[in-house]
Amino acid sequence: LYEEKFSKKIVQYTLLTYFSLNFINNLAKVGKKLEKEISNLKKASKLKYDTDYASINLPFDDVSNVKKIVREKIRLKPEYIVLIGIGGSNLGAIAVFEAVLGKLYNQMSAKTKFLFLDTVDSDSVENIQRVVEPVLRDGKNILVNVVTKSGGTTETISNYLVMLKLLRKYKKDYKKYIVVTTGKDSNLWKIANDEGFSLLEIPEKVGGRYSVFSSVGLFPLALLGIDIDNLLKGAAIMQQRCLMQFNNNPAATSAAIHYILNLPMSNLFLFSNDLESVGKWYKQLMGESIGKEFTKKGKKVNNGITPTVSIGSTDLHSMAQLYLGGPYNRLMTFVRMHHNFSLVKVPVYDKYSKLVENIQGKRLKDIMNAILYGTEEAFKKGKRPFIEIIMPDKSEYSIGQFLQMKMMEIMYLAYLMDVNPFDQPNVEHYKKETKKILKNS
Ligand code: PA5
Repeated sequence: LYEEKFSKKIVQYTLLTYFSLNFINNLAKVGKKLEKEISNLKKASKLKYDTDYASINLPFDDVSNVKKIVREKIRLKPEYIVLIGIGGSNLGAIAVFEAVLGKLYNQMSAKTKFLFLDTVDSDSVENIQRVVEPVLRDGKNILVNVVTKSGGTTETISNYLVMLKLLRKYKKDYKKYIVVTTGKDSNLWKIANDEGFSLLEIPEKVGGRYSVFSSVGLFPLALLGIDIDNLLKGAAIMQQRCLMQFNNNPAATSAAIHYILNLPMSNLFLFSNDLESVGKWYKQLMGESIGKEFTKKGKKVNNGITPTVSIGSTDLHSMAQLYLGGPYNRLMTFVRMHHNFSLVKVPVYDKYSKLVENIQGKRLKDIMNAILYGTEEAFKKGKRPFIEIIMPDKSEYSIGQFLQMKMMEIMYLAYLMDVNPFDQPNVEHYKKETKKILKNS
């Protein structure tokens, strides 16, 4: 239905669905409707941080302050970076870290390792203490980056105080091992300023789940050696594409397909292990942005599409029966790599040649593609809709494009569903209730 072929460095989209002429007509109508929102985003792209769409301008921002603090802190030669934050304040950084450097980076690299603390699971927190305490005891360094826009998230502040105590125990000059990333109006900003910690600002109009290209994501990623310039270049080129007219706009087209199909679930099927955390990031993006009790004008709708994530081919062995035989209730988006950095092949051993035929001597990448194409064929036969996204590779440039495309897709989808993609009023409810309970306990 919709196919784009760009140079090998650009993420490609093949949006395939199996629908009637009616669907095609609907797509044209919805496309027309979206032109208004495309033009709203275009206007916002000229207004920097003054509108709710502020995050689309992050890829063009000046990042010299982030780089300056990175240079300063690299001189401390930290053995570990401990990122403390939750939800929008850590999911983006983890997603890019794992995609670019690989999930096994900590085990493979002698360089700075990455740990993160999000929830207040005392066992996990203690395990992290057990990992970093010997490092501090040996006189080596760690760096703590606490990220919280509000400065008042229960889990983040609890975990921060635990790490602060540990740092204070081993470092007289503990202040230089802490970098605080927060909103300028937060109470944490004031404390960090008083203490003389390095401070990075989160722009007021950039919400957590749209903040990966702000200091929230960029600082820890650059510290880990990720090329943030290329990450932002990828995001910038995709921002431009996603401001184009509907027919050439992958974010708007994917949003329109989601809207027209009106299915209760959207499954991101990632054929790459290292993208699993990209899936977690996407779940928050879609879940929190689209799942809304009220429309923008206050009409009660209880709207939402439930985002799910699968990893190929692993989840085919647990979920394919449901996906191919169960209810017609979800839109699949398959994501595959055009290019893998490694070229592992299955070796040739005659004795084993009959166990599984036609795999020996083949690259794992080609076997993976055969599995994916086989899956797509089965979806076609079952007349089940899917979208295919082909990423050139897992470089910063490709990941930057992918994340930017998804964020803009969600803005377009929210417009069609008449909900505000930038707030999370119901999340605030449980946060307030938790604080009340803690007050009385
Ligand atoms: O998207 C969001 O707004 C949330 O997921 C927040 O990022 C999350 O609750 C953490 O909030 P904060 O950054 O204020 O600590």
